[in-house]
Amino acid sequence: MTKEIVVSGIRPTGNLHLGNYLGAISNFVKMQHDYTCYFFIADYHSLTTHPNPTDIHNHVKQALVEYLACGLNPELCTLYVQSDLPQIPELYMMLNMHAYKGELERVASFKEKARTQPDNINAGLLTYPVLMAADILIHKATKVPVGKDQEQHLEMARTFGNRFNRIYQKEIFPEPYAFNYGSELVKIPGLQGGGKMSKSDGDASVIKLNDSADQIRKKITKAVTDNTPLEPNTPPSVAVQNLLDLMKVVSEKEKLMHFTAAYANCNIRYGDLKKELAEDMIAFLAPIREKIIEFQSDEKLLSHIVKLGKEKAHESADKTLMECREAIGFKKF
Ligand code: TRP
Repeated sequence: MTKEIVVSGIRPTGNLHLGNYLGAISNFVKMQHDYTCYFFIADYHSLTTHPNPTDIHNHVKQALVEYLACGLNPELCTLYVQSDLPQIPELYMMLNMHAYKGELERVASFKEKARTQPDNINAGLLTYPVLMAADILIHKATKVPVGKDQEQHLEMARTFGNRFNRIYQKEIFPEPYAFNYGSELVKIPGLQGGGKMSKSDGDASVIKLNDSADQIRKKITKAVTDNTPLEPNTPPSVAVQNLLDLMKVVSEKEKLMHFTAAYANCNIRYGDLKKELAEDMIAFLAPIREKIIEFQSDEKLLSHIVKLGKEKAHESADKTLMECREAIGFKKF
């Protein structure tokens, strides 16, 4: 039986944190075993904000290193750098001919960007969903692991694929849909009493995958808590519940039960809770951090991995593009 095809793009936007790892990347790692997976670093997409040449390379390398350290395995999936595939801009150009200004202007992410960066509303920004559709359609993917915020882009990928099929009277592209294992993913909260762990809440709120043991200790020590409750069985404040939720992920069950009971009995000591949580967090992340350091210094291995990914991705992309060229009527002389 041929496996279904999964495609997902990784934005090269600096260091990953625990929330990214447990929320998204660990999903990718599982999918490698069950599907034919293509994962790529979306560097063409990052051009919309005009990054400088040194930054772009460093960011791509960092993303690659961190995803490898989390367990993406180039033997099990195809892991490549988007700009290694000129087939993607070619398909993007073809799809652009049937993508209309009106529909593109109505996309929520475009409207948002147009509002926040009014002096850089370029054509690439407007056609971002077309490029994303090309990323997905080039491998004929049906499953796309992305968050809620990408649903509209996926709907457009279906629209553009179906439109191409209809116009050229060929069943080239299947319909891609959002996909994640288990809809209820573990919620990873931040350290400052807010909601889910997110870079936008500032550095103190997130635990980055490459934070040192000391940095982790400092951040957890400074995490927001509340006053020890006076009434037995008071429900924990959001901030304290967040720490208990983190403990659920990285610590032994008994430890979590101990601190939960201590809270209920009004004799919890936050200093102890934080100390235990910090040491367990450090142990939990140590293998990833070690691998980050290993991959970072192995340029030869990285270049081998990128080359391998490029070759595998080219094979699949060339096949699709040939079909598109033929459907359009481009013929060899
Ligand atoms: N737009 C996606 C994001 O912001 C990244 C992305 C680009 C992507 N191309 C893709 C995701 C193709 C899935 C499939 O996160």
